[in-house]
Amino acid sequence: MAFSCFSRGKGRTLQDPHRPAKEEENIKKEDQKDTENCNSNTEEEVRCVSVLVVGAGSRGSCYTSYATCFPKLMKVVGVADPRACVREEHRKLHNIDEDKLFENWADAAEVEKFADAVIIATPDRLHKDPAVAFARKGYHMLLEKPMAELIDSGAIGDVVHIQHMEPVGYWHFAHSFVRGNWRNEKESTFSLLAKSCHDIDLICYWLGKKRCLKVSSFGSLSHFTKENKPKDAGSRCLDCSVEETCPYSAKKLYLERAEKGMFGWPVAVVCSNGVYDIESLTDALKTGPYGRCIYDCDNDVVSNQVVNMEFEGGLTAAFTMMAFTNSLGVRSTTIYGSKGELCYNGGEIEVHDFTARMTYRIHAKHTAFIPPHLAAHGGADYYLIENFISAVAKGDPSLIQTGPDETLRSHLLVFEAERSRRESCVLHLDDEL
Ligand SMILES: NC(=O)c1ccc[n+]([C@@H]2O[C@H](COP(=O)([O-])OP(=O)(O)OC[C@H]3O[C@@H](n4cnc5c(N)ncnc54)[C@H](O)[C@@H]3O)[C@@H](O)[C@H]2O)c1
Repeated sequence: MAFSCFSRGKGRTLQDPHRPAKEEENIKKEDQKDTENCNSNTEEEVRCVSVLVVGAGSRGSCYTSYATCFPKLMKVVGVADPRACVREEHRKLHNIDEDKLFENWADAAEVEKFADAVIIATPDRLHKDPAVAFARKGYHMLLEKPMAELIDSGAIGDVVHIQHMEPVGYWHFAHSFVRGNWRNEKESTFSLLAKSCHDIDLICYWLGKKRCLKVSSFGSLSHFTKENKPKDAGSRCLDCSVEETCPYSAKKLYLERAEKGMFGWPVAVVCSNGVYDIESLTDALKTGPYGRCIYDCDNDVVSNQVVNMEFEGGLTAAFTMMAFTNSLGVRSTTIYGSKGELCYNGGEIEVHDFTARMTYRIHAKHTAFIPPHLAAHGGADYYLIENFISAVAKGDPSLIQTGPDETLRSHLLVFEAERSRRESCVLHLDDEL
């Protein structure tokens, strides 16, 4: 069975203006107790799941850190990655047998099944073949790619329109989509699939069973092109005379962070040899992709894109992906309903109730202690791997809120949106979407 697993805002409603103060106080105490007990309870009840990690880079290592934090729940028993330093790091950390270290996913897929589950976190172009091969072997699978209760409760009446915005962050875009692994379609994929498939998936999720009927999209690659290169700029930031005036300077993005001792992401990605010090970073910036002038790269993916969608019943949704933002990844969403409006901007959810003529705020709280390595994406990294491991351990797919069917549907919509952008047309979608 293959799962593609996404966490969609697991949380608990804490503050409700209609709830008496005493009751609110009791709920807070309960929540505190739950949070303290949450992980240890699970550890007692659930069997340990053995995992093979295929592609142990940023994402793969993030998920395997769950085994380090919760060794009774998950054990890493194999690793497949062409980088020797990565295999060695995982071997030492998880005490993996020598014969379970593989240089390529295909070698691991050839031997008899030896783990309950496989985590596939290889680069984009290497998803399909390993997924098919490991599915045939019978592995459970986490394939890394890319508020509903409130809506269902009728708090804002019938949903009429969703406006959803993904701010990529100006330096994050330069790092990943101009210099980095997702810069070029042939090497990876188009921006909407790489960066925003989760957002389109969320919009579909919020609209429940309503099918998308029409889609249109516009977008372009702005600014990060050769024509915008300043006259005196060099080809690398370390020997560029105008580097100080450039917001995308590799010195500012990486060296200044490293000088403050910050060697985590994104600096860790630049030091691909696994040695994290200033010397190794400087070498990488002199010779590697992350030291290049951002106006002189082989990038071609778009930096700004809008997608308009019409769903059954005349519901509409508008999505924007934008590179040039100060905010990094903190989505803002407004859901307009016939009786209210729901707004989210990274903090609390604000609900405007048109009938009661009042506004109240809802604070979603984590239901578990989130280890620092799994805290990214608002804690979703933790919930994603936790849901997956519990589902495998208990043999209960219902613990996962989404499966291959929903993922396929929203991915097909992403492909159609991109086709609309390229062909400058409105697409009428068929019954499969
Ligand atoms: N969910 C998210 O928020 C999110 C964020 C970033 C990336 N991703 C996705 O996760 C995937 C991995 O991204 P990443 O940032 O970890 O990349 P990465 O480059 O850090 O890691 C990829 C790893 O795969 C290894 N690899 C390459 N060829 C291989 C092969 N033949 N067999 C086995 N391993 C091989 C590489 O050596 C590397 O260690 C990508 O598909 C990416 O789009 C998801």
